[in-house]
Order: sequence, then C-alpha cells, then structure tokens
Amino acid sequence: MNQVATNTDCRHRLHTALGQIDALMSRPVYDALFDAVARETPDHILEIGTAHGAGTIAMALGAESRGAATRIQTVDTLEALADIPSSRADYGDAKANEDIVRGNFDRAGVASRISLFVGRSDVFAASQSPGDPMIGMLVLDADGRIDRDLLLFHARMTRNCLIVVDDIDGDVGASFTRGGLSLDLKHVISEKLTSSLVAHGYLKLEKRVWNTSFFRAVDPQDWDEDEIRALAIACYRELVFLKAGTRGLFVSTAASLLGSNAVLRPFYGSARAIYRRLSRRPRR
Ligand SMILES: C[S@@+](CC[C@H](N)C(=O)[O-])C[C@H]1O[C@@H](n2cnc3c(N)ncnc32)[C@H](O)[C@@H]1O
Repeated sequence: MNQVATNTDCRHRLHTALGQIDALMSRPVYDALFDAVARETPDHILEIGTAHGAGTIAMALGAESRGAATRIQTVDTLEALADIPSSRADYGDAKANEDIVRGNFDRAGVASRISLFVGRSDVFAASQSPGDPMIGMLVLDADGRIDRDLLLFHARMTRNCLIVVDDIDGDVGASFTRGGLSLDLKHVISEKLTSSLVAHGYLKLEKRVWNTSFFRAVDPQDWDEDEIRALAIACYRELVFLKAGTRGLFVSTAASLLGSNAVLRPFYGSARAIYRRLSRRPRR
C-alpha cells in the first residue's frame, strides 16, 4: 500500500514539474522514462542532453518511487556552440541555464541524486576515469550524433544496457531564418543510425513511445568500433541525396513562417497550443 502511495506521489510530482519547466518531449515519453527506471532501478544512468532537466527529473522520481539508490549523471552544453546549436540559447548563457536546471532539480526534490556536467559529451567522456561506475541506462537526446556518443560510452555500458534515443521519426525540420532556410536533419540521422545498428546486431529495439525508442545494447563490451564508424559514415552519406517525406518539412516551414510574422504570431501560438492539446503532440 505504501509502495503504491509513493509511486503515485512521485508521478504526481513529475507531472507538476513538467507543467513548470520547458520540457521538450511528450508526457508519455516522460512517463515511460519514469517507468523504466522504476522497473529496472539501474545503479547508474548517463543522460546526454539535459535541456532544463525534464527527463532527468522523470528518471530521478522513477528511482525514488522504488526507494532505489540510482545516481544520474547528466550532460549538456547549455549554450549554442559553433558546431552545436542549442534551444537553450533562448534562455541566456550557460550560467543562466545552469541556474534554471539546478533550480528545477531543487524544486522537484531530486537534486541529491543528480550530477550535472556543463559541456559537450566528448569533453565529459575525456574526464572519465577507469574506476567510474558502469552505465545501466543511457539516454541520448542531444545533437543526433548517436554514433559518437555510443562509441564514447560503450566500454562503460553493462550487458543489455537500456539505451533510449529521442527524435527517431526521420522527419526533416526546416525553418526560415534571416540568412535563408535552415534545415534540421537530426531526426533523419538518428533514425538512420539506430536502424543500421539494429540491422547489424549492436542494438535490439524493445519499444517505441512517440518519437522515442528504447533499445538494448547487445554485448557493448565486444563492439567493433571500426565497423560502427563505417556504418555511421554510410548513414551520413545517405544525407547527400536524401529522400524524405514532405509532411514534417511542410509543417515546420509553415510554422516558422507564421511564427516569424509579428501580426500572425499570436494567432499561430494559440492555434499551436490547441493543436498540441488535442493531438497530444510533443513540443519541438
Ligand atoms: C532536445 S534537447 C534535450 C531535451 C531533454 N531531454 C528534455 O527532456 O527536455 C537537446 C539538448 O542537447 C544539448 N546538446 C546538443 N549537443 C550536445 C553535445 N554534443 N553535448 C552535450 N549536450 C548537447 C543541447 O544543448 C540541448 O539542450
């Protein structure tokens, strides 16, 4: 009975937190992260792509609902860099974002089990030492460089490590900017890389929730890094002459046109909120 009450309380705290912070995935995905941690209680979770901490909080509360000692390490640049854009740039510099993230962890009551590293995933990887704990769950929601992050961390992954990858619907994003048209192929490359790794037996697909897939790492200690690099290059080559659906392209282009027009922006904002509510589509 107590266990049920604790689980309900933790889930309620998660949903309250999601209403207060800039959460970039959909509620069913946060619930699925909560459930996965509550079910498996991994000792150590690594997340690449914290943003304002919504996923981190979901996982921390999943652990708390089971009274587990799970620790979470979460990594984010928290600012745009020359080669990595970041939606966090809308909220100020890295320090301003770090204050927001730490405030969100405090308010959700989960700060004590989380370590935040502000910087790129490769810089974080370089700071690791051989005695660092094995990773039982890895969450990738950064810049689509799934190959880079899997190669950086596979040696620390447990057998059958749960790997969660967001943005794998293959949609092309497009928006009008002052300089012209900006294309976002993160969803395309994430889908291609994960499909290729599944096809070659490195990952096993367990389930998909909205745009987010849950995989198992098959024997990550034995992975052939050269083969993974070769598979990744083949995927990146497919971007040169890309065949993609037009649905996502049209929606994001029209959205950026309307959103950048000062007269239409208020109507567009309300219409988008109503559409999201009705369709329960995730925020982008
Ligand atoms: C889509 S958001 C993450 C959303 C988050 N998981 C949530 O639940 O709201 C992607 C984040 O990844 C970060 N990022 C992108 N590339 C990165 C990299 N190479 N290393 C660390 N962080 C990165 C960006 O700064 C951005 O905040």
